[in-house]
Amino acid sequence: MSKESLDHIVSLAKRRGFIFQSSEIYGGLSSCYDYGPLGVLLKNNIKKAWNKAMVQNRDDVVGLDSSILMQPKIWEASGHLAGFTDPLVDCKKCKKRWRADHLLQAGSMKPDFRPDNKEEDLTCPECGGELTDIRKFNLMFKTQMGVVEGEGNDIYLRPETCQGIYVNFLNIQQSQRLKIPFGVAQIGKAFRNEITPGNFTFRTREFEQMEMQYFIHPKQAKKYFDEWKELRMKWYLDMGIKKDNLKFRKHEKDELAHYAKEATDIEYNYPGMGFKELAGIHNRGDWDLSQHQKFSGQDLTYTDQEKGEKFTPYIIETSDGADRATLAFLLDAYDEVETRSGDEKAKHSTETVLRLHKDLAPIKVAILPLSKKEPLQKLSKKIQEELRRNYMTQYDETGSIGKRYRRQDEIGTPYCVTIDFDSLEDKKVTVRDRDTMEQERVSVEELEEYFRDKL
Ligand code: GAP
Repeated sequence: MSKESLDHIVSLAKRRGFIFQSSEIYGGLSSCYDYGPLGVLLKNNIKKAWNKAMVQNRDDVVGLDSSILMQPKIWEASGHLAGFTDPLVDCKKCKKRWRADHLLQAGSMKPDFRPDNKEEDLTCPECGGELTDIRKFNLMFKTQMGVVEGEGNDIYLRPETCQGIYVNFLNIQQSQRLKIPFGVAQIGKAFRNEITPGNFTFRTREFEQMEMQYFIHPKQAKKYFDEWKELRMKWYLDMGIKKDNLKFRKHEKDELAHYAKEATDIEYNYPGMGFKELAGIHNRGDWDLSQHQKFSGQDLTYTDQEKGEKFTPYIIETSDGADRATLAFLLDAYDEVETRSGDEKAKHSTETVLRLHKDLAPIKVAILPLSKKEPLQKLSKKIQEELRRNYMTQYDETGSIGKRYRRQDEIGTPYCVTIDFDSLEDKKVTVRDRDTMEQERVSVEELEEYFRDKL
C-alpha cells in the first residue's frame, strides 16, 4: 500500500486493533476515534514516556489532573470566549466548508487576507464556486450544567488543558512549597469544534493533550523557551522518530495565538500532508496569570523571599497532542521488508515491521510454543506468568511459527520467545529480536534478568 498517504496506517490500525472509527456500526461519528486493545497500550506508553521525561526524571515539575468542566469565567479570562475562533467560509455551489486561513496558506487567497475582511475574489478550491462572507466561528463546545436549561448555566468543554494548571497555580505552589522556576504537567482530554477535521486522528474534535507549564521570572523567558524547545525535540528523537521527519517552525507575528509572545512548533512530516504541527512551545508571558488575577480577584503574583521581589510569573508552555504523537510514532515506525519471517504463505510478498521504540511497543514479549501439546503449553504458560508481572505479554499458539512472527512484527513486539521440545530437556528457549532478527538460546531461569537488561 502506498506510503504517500495515511492509508497504510489507517488500514493497519483497524486490522490489528490500534484505532477504530468511533460508533462504526452506526455509520461512524465524524472525526472521533476509539483506541483499540493495542492502540490503548501504545498511547498509554507514549503518555507514560512523556510523564517520565517531564515529571519523574525532574525535580522541578509536578503533576496535576484537573477537571474538564470548569467555571465558565475561566474562558472569559483566558480570551477563548472572545478570541478562540476560526474564520469560516462556505462554498455556495458545493456547500463545502473551508477554514479561510487554510485557504490563505494554500495560496488560494490574496496574501493580504484578514479574517474580518470580505474578499471579492475567493473561490472554492474544490469546484471553483463562489464563497460566502467570512464568519467567525468559536471552537468551544458549549453544554449546560444542572437541570435547568437557560442562560447562566452555559458551560464549556475545555479546549486546552493548561487553564486547569493556571487556576491551580497558588494551590500547587503553596502546597508543594515550590520556588520559581517550576513546572506543572498534565495529560487530559480537550475538545474543539473544528471546522475542518480530518486526516485520520490528526485533527479531531476530541483529543488528548500532554501539556507542561513552566513558571519563570520574566527576565528568563528566552533562556527557558530555548531550553524547552530543544528538550521537546530531543524527546521525539530519543523515542525513535527519524530526524529528517522533524523540524521546528517559528510562528510569524501575525499568526501567534492571542496569548503568545513567541511560539515555535515541532512539525512532523505526515505522509500526504507534509510537515504539520505535532507539538508547540509557547512563551505565554504573564497573559494567563494576569487575566485570572483580574477576573478572579485573587493575587496570583509570586514573591521571591530571598530577593524580596514580587512579580507575575511568565509561563513557558510545552503542548503536545497525544493523538498526533501516536499517529507520528505509528507512521515513523512503519517499515516494509522482504519476506523474512518464514511464513510459507507469505513468500514473495513484503512483510510489515513496526519498529517502535521498545518503551512504546504495546506488547513487549510474545510467548510462542511450537506445539499445542500439553508439556509445551504448561512450560509456556509458566514462562508467561513470570514475565507478565513486569511486561505486557501475548500468548499465541495458532498457525505456523512464521505466521506468528509475522503477526508480532506487524504490531511491533520487540521480542518473541519460542518454546520447543528441546526446551523441555535443556530448559532453554529461543528469543528472537524484532530488529536484528538474531535468535538466542536463553535459559528459562535467566529470562527475567535477560529482559530486564533488554527492555
Ligand atoms: N495550550 C496551548 C494549545 O492548546 P495548540 O497549538 O492549540 O496549543 C497544542 O494545541 C497541541 O494539541 C497541538 O500541537 C496538537 O498536537 C494538539 N491538537 C490541537 N488541536 C488538535 C486537534 N483538533 N486534533 C488533534 N490534536 C490537536
